[in-house]
Amino acid sequence: MNKLKMHSPDIAQVNLQRIRQLFPACVTEASGADGELRLAIDFDQLRQELADSIVEGGQERYQLSWPGKREALLTANAPIAKTLRPRRDESVDFDSTRNLFIEGDNLDALKLLQETYLGKVKLVYIDPPYNTGKDFIYKDDFSTDVRDYLQQSNQADSEGGRLVANTEANGRFHSDWLSMIYPRLKLARNLLRDDGAILISIDDNEADNLHKVCDEVFGEENFVGQIVWQRSKKGDSKLIAKVHEYILCYVRDKSSVLANGPWRRPKEGADQVLAKYAELRASLGTNHEAIRAEMQAWYKQLSIDDPRKAHKHYNWSDDRGLYFAADFAGPDDGRESRPRHDILHPVTGKSCKKPSTGWRWDEEKTKWALAQTPPRIHFGPDETTIPTRKSYLFEIDSEPYSSVFYRDGRSATLEVEELVGKGWFPFPKNTDVLTELIELITGPDDIILDFFAGSGSTGHAVMKVNQAHGSKRRFILVQIPEETGRSGYATIADITKRRLREAGKKITANGASGAGDIGFRTLKIDSSNMADIFYSPDALEKPNLDMFVDNIKPDRTPEDLLFQVMLDWGVDLALPIAKQTLQGKDVFLMDGNALAACFDGHGGIDENFVKELAMVQPLRVVFRDAGFKDSSVKINVEQIFKLLSPATEVKCI
Ligand SMILES: C[S@@+](CC[C@H](N)C(=O)[O-])C[C@H]1O[C@@H](n2cnc3c(N)ncnc32)[C@H](O)[C@@H]1O
Repeated sequence: MNKLKMHSPDIAQVNLQRIRQLFPACVTEASGADGELRLAIDFDQLRQELADSIVEGGQERYQLSWPGKREALLTANAPIAKTLRPRRDESVDFDSTRNLFIEGDNLDALKLLQETYLGKVKLVYIDPPYNTGKDFIYKDDFSTDVRDYLQQSNQADSEGGRLVANTEANGRFHSDWLSMIYPRLKLARNLLRDDGAILISIDDNEADNLHKVCDEVFGEENFVGQIVWQRSKKGDSKLIAKVHEYILCYVRDKSSVLANGPWRRPKEGADQVLAKYAELRASLGTNHEAIRAEMQAWYKQLSIDDPRKAHKHYNWSDDRGLYFAADFAGPDDGRESRPRHDILHPVTGKSCKKPSTGWRWDEEKTKWALAQTPPRIHFGPDETTIPTRKSYLFEIDSEPYSSVFYRDGRSATLEVEELVGKGWFPFPKNTDVLTELIELITGPDDIILDFFAGSGSTGHAVMKVNQAHGSKRRFILVQIPEETGRSGYATIADITKRRLREAGKKITANGASGAGDIGFRTLKIDSSNMADIFYSPDALEKPNLDMFVDNIKPDRTPEDLLFQVMLDWGVDLALPIAKQTLQGKDVFLMDGNALAACFDGHGGIDENFVKELAMVQPLRVVFRDAGFKDSSVKINVEQIFKLLSPATEVKCI
């Protein structure tokens, strides 16, 4: 029974919990006046969370720290003047697909997605560079002011020189990696739904640091598990052969996740075992002893890796089905009051031997189990054997995901090679493992994000899951256009796109009708569409007044503007787009009437046009400043909408 508290709530602790929900990293451990450790606010960290420059200072405390951590936090919070430019030619089913492929640095991508996908993503899966001493990481630039943004706005990774080999000779080996991952995790957390989860592939190089940094970003109470993935049977090493890596799992808020029920996956191999059993029942009828002997012989000849073999304890049979004789003893928890009633043996009529910890079920449940036909309690030959519970395989067809599994990595390489060619992408992840994890955690309409996309395995896995279940899960992938330095595919992003395209084709070929969404909309990160002066008139010494007349860069298309508007407004970037002509001008209509946009910049928009557009009753409408015939039309636009479509939000760019 819960004890009465007998004191008023500790308000400070309640407030602390609230702050912890907002800023888990700011709640730390501190020793109080009595020398006891308790939770406390890390005010330096909180100040840093709320600041726009580096906050100096600090005191001794238990926390993960590295040189550059504060700058990394600033990086996470610093705004950027960038946009996403659509590329129809590099997409599949551009107008209708709900999947996104974003080409660019994931730090920028995560910032650009903050508004639109805040709290919307169910699963983040990432497979970042492991910091093996051979791979590359991207050095983020922390000290950016407005002028820097303008100067940098066109930087491409192939030109920018920010890609550095993080070798062990580099004194900041772990610090650089942590500074890279930390802001990205913080931004990713914002995108997760309360019941969302993040899975991160990693190996021993950074597993400890990653665990600690995730404790800080997600809160250690939201740690779910560190899955060990054995990827091969043999490894070369002078000391210990490493044949495994990890998948670290955190959730955004454990209580919200648990409120949806447990994570369960189908018991692997169970269907095939039940099929074998059905075969034997058909030939041997109710000769359960013979069936048991056949089942045991069948299990015996299966190889140790065969998932069917994992069910070998399911070898008893009765008229209800195949079962396992499960322990009937109560847990050894020291409870004196466990049920210890008599259970009589059906043949000898004597009371059966009892487990030392008592029965798991009370007398009533035992009576119910014995009254079933056939009974749900399994007896030995006489009362000297402790009875067991019958656990039927057909009733328990799902199980929790376990923290250790074996899956050979080579099949993943073959799958990617078949789609993009040999030797282009080393060590991709297995789509069958990703498929299982996606099925475990996400529902039919959920969004899955992978911002270290590599060859696009996560996108491929989402397509496979949709095909298998007829579901509408969506993916968002981000990949930097890291140069390959070879002819064929110029960048890794090109490999990703080819993989997704070919995977879609293969799925369509296999699945005929029920292929689901196999498209993807490619968006490239670029400098803002607005001329620099739009952001910082003060920062430029001699403003060119003409630039105010039309502040859009000349190389930008109406579709570029459409996506910038969607970003600014937080409209889903994957909504279907339709283009219509109204009075000779192009109008974009997103998802019917979610957003209407006319970017005609030739001064042809008059009141008649505005009225006709208002009849569509869009939720939002946007025009281009330079598009209005004269200033009076511009002034009247809001009035016209107020009259004809009062719910519409009107904006100009
Ligand atoms: C280990 S690979 C991911 C492999 C992927 N899971 C697969 O199955 O193909 C990591 C990828 O992250 C990319 N990457 C590294 N830094 C990045 C950044 N800042 N933004 C976007 N992608 C990045 C690398 O180019 C590389 O393709």
